[in-house]
Amino acid sequence: PRVTIVGAGRVGSTLAQRVAEKNLADVVLLDIIAGMPQGLALDLMEARGIEIHNRQIIGTNNYADTSGSQIVVITAGFPRKPGMSRDDLLKINAKIVVEAAKNAIAHSPNAIFIVVTNPLDVMTYLAWQATGLPRDRIMGMAGVLDSARFETFIALELGVLPADVKAMVLGSHGDLMVPLSRYATVNGIPITELLDAATIERLVERTRNGGAEIVELMHTGGAFFAPASATSVMVESILLNQSRLLPVAAYLQGEYGLEDVVIGVPCRLGCGGIESILELTLTDEEREGLHTSARSVRQNIERSQE
Ligand code: NAI
Repeated sequence: PRVTIVGAGRVGSTLAQRVAEKNLADVVLLDIIAGMPQGLALDLMEARGIEIHNRQIIGTNNYADTSGSQIVVITAGFPRKPGMSRDDLLKINAKIVVEAAKNAIAHSPNAIFIVVTNPLDVMTYLAWQATGLPRDRIMGMAGVLDSARFETFIALELGVLPADVKAMVLGSHGDLMVPLSRYATVNGIPITELLDAATIERLVERTRNGGAEIVELMHTGGAFFAPASATSVMVESILLNQSRLLPVAAYLQGEYGLEDVVIGVPCRLGCGGIESILELTLTDEEREGLHTSARSVRQNIERSQE
């Protein structure tokens, strides 16, 4: 199989490394900057003998080279600078993502699309519109990353192995995300048995600010290692038809009482893309959180089209 990654920046190039070195697929890395994706591809190819895999990595500035991809990941666009919100990136990234989505679908009409560019939920909606794809074949990555951050902070607090912590974060990728703390467990034991309410609230708050915390520390751009890992999990579940149940930004048609908006909900990901959306019973507060998220995404969809 072949995975195209549009945008060979920090998230895109790290994702290329993950996909190739996990031996999931050949990778086409595309960017507008001449020579840059070609150089990265050569560098990754030269690591193959050491990492022991035989995947092809092609760097290009030309969409014709992406043809016949099973998956297209869009990471093209600008990341945040300190003090910026994800929504500040709206107009500039909208143009880039719509163009990328149209070009990519023209050469890979059967591909499944994963959008990573921020503001995530709005960009996924715009890419869905631009490609005209059925909703099971286009989605955004945010929830897997936000959940991994929440799990990390829980693991750090309790001093346990991060892989033993399971949590899910729904809603939009931003301050309005909806971490489902009551469902978070350490190997099946609810964290509500292990931590007091004030501590859980502190970890939830840190999760909400997880992206900004890294932007403030780094000054130049944001996180990319964990975002690339999170995206590679989605790529893997699709390519290997694993049917993992993951929080994915999906186009909703009535689920959770929401329509014509993209928001993070639990989805089963397999070779067809989004194979089903799971509708959980939410508390009033969680449901209100999800609806507040959705209102903000919808406002930004409208703003992006002004
Ligand atoms: P970066 O600046 O390192 O890379 C972006 C790349 O996109 C650059 O190489 C640039 O040349 C390229 N690009 C710009 N316009 C393009 C076009 N029209 N066609 C093809 N390529 C184009 O940024 P980074 O750190 O890789 O982040 C990428 C995006 O992903 C940002 O919008 C960031 O906010 C977002 N992001 C989203 C996350 C999520 O959870 N959904 C997590 C981390 C980042």
